[in-house]
Amino acid sequence: MPNDTRLTIRRPDDWHVHLRDGDVMRGVLPYTVRQFARAIVMPNLSPPIADVDAAIAYRERILAALPQGSDFTPLMTCYLTDSTDPAELARGFAEGVFTAAKLYPAHATTGSAHGVTDVANIAKPLETMQDIGMPLLVHGEVTDPGTDIFDREAVFIERILAPLVGRLPDLKLVFEHITTADAVGFVESAGPNVAATITPQHLHINRNAMFAGGLRPHAYCLPVAKREKHRLALRKAATSGSPKYFLGTDSAPHAVSAKESACGCAGIFNAPFALESYAAVFDEEGALDRLEGFASEHGPRFYGLPLNDGSVTLERTDVEVPAVLDACGTPIVPFHAGEAIGWRIVP
Ligand code: NCD
Ligand code: ZN
Repeated sequence: MPNDTRLTIRRPDDWHVHLRDGDVMRGVLPYTVRQFARAIVMPNLSPPIADVDAAIAYRERILAALPQGSDFTPLMTCYLTDSTDPAELARGFAEGVFTAAKLYPAHATTGSAHGVTDVANIAKPLETMQDIGMPLLVHGEVTDPGTDIFDREAVFIERILAPLVGRLPDLKLVFEHITTADAVGFVESAGPNVAATITPQHLHINRNAMFAGGLRPHAYCLPVAKREKHRLALRKAATSGSPKYFLGTDSAPHAVSAKESACGCAGIFNAPFALESYAAVFDEEGALDRLEGFASEHGPRFYGLPLNDGSVTLERTDVEVPAVLDACGTPIVPFHAGEAIGWRIVP
């Protein structure tokens, strides 16, 4: 139980992170490793991680980049395409290479050009996943230009997700980085095989943050932040104690030059202070006693993985977040840049 100034919780995991590759990966990985025992590593590299050999090789590169003595475990995912082979998925899952597979609707977000153009094209892989108990991780946004960007998630639920769950009622499914009250409602009404991750930014900011005094590219990610009522619904869900919600940062590093541009990339780099950022939210909501469930228990239980041993201690104190961080030569602006967060991890 928390006392006034310190909170100790079981070691947490990050159930949705973009680690990238090469120098940037070497630069950002230590932030995730500092806080989390395991992470679900997103496959949206260029080219995407779409078969077993690519996932093994990527995992090797991550393991080789770990700081000395680290016991961090990267959990790999398969990028679904229109031509994903169900047998390849099943083999990767059986061999312990793939923990899950990721559905990016084609052109929905960064690195989704090879994504699925119509869920009908992955009917067979999804059936196989249901049969073998392999989780489907969903980027839930429609992509047709006629749909308002702020409605893309709600329309996806209606057009794609609800029918999908109807057809495959036992498929294990994580609705990733949910941003709306509609998504909370959908997850609540679905069975225990449907869960959701929630990012720190969607708990902290609403869509005004992108336009506060001017255009703010570092507050832009996909799915885009929504109205205040949606942020409040997400806060309620995350801090409710329900096992359906767990920590997934969606930390998505992009170089400053790629963000501060005439066409800035989507993605918020929140890895450096992720746990602290979540702790601030749970504190504000009077729910610090529920942070452990959200950060360290609900995710592994959903995935059928053991809880971590060990613990981390957070301390109530002001920490200044730097304006910019260096990822092995690439400057990246972190979430909360220039602000103070009211918590720090005791080293
Ligand atoms: C992610 C990225 O940059 O890879 N960006 C983002 O805004 N979240 C992709 C994604 O998860 O949508
Ligand atoms: Zn993501």
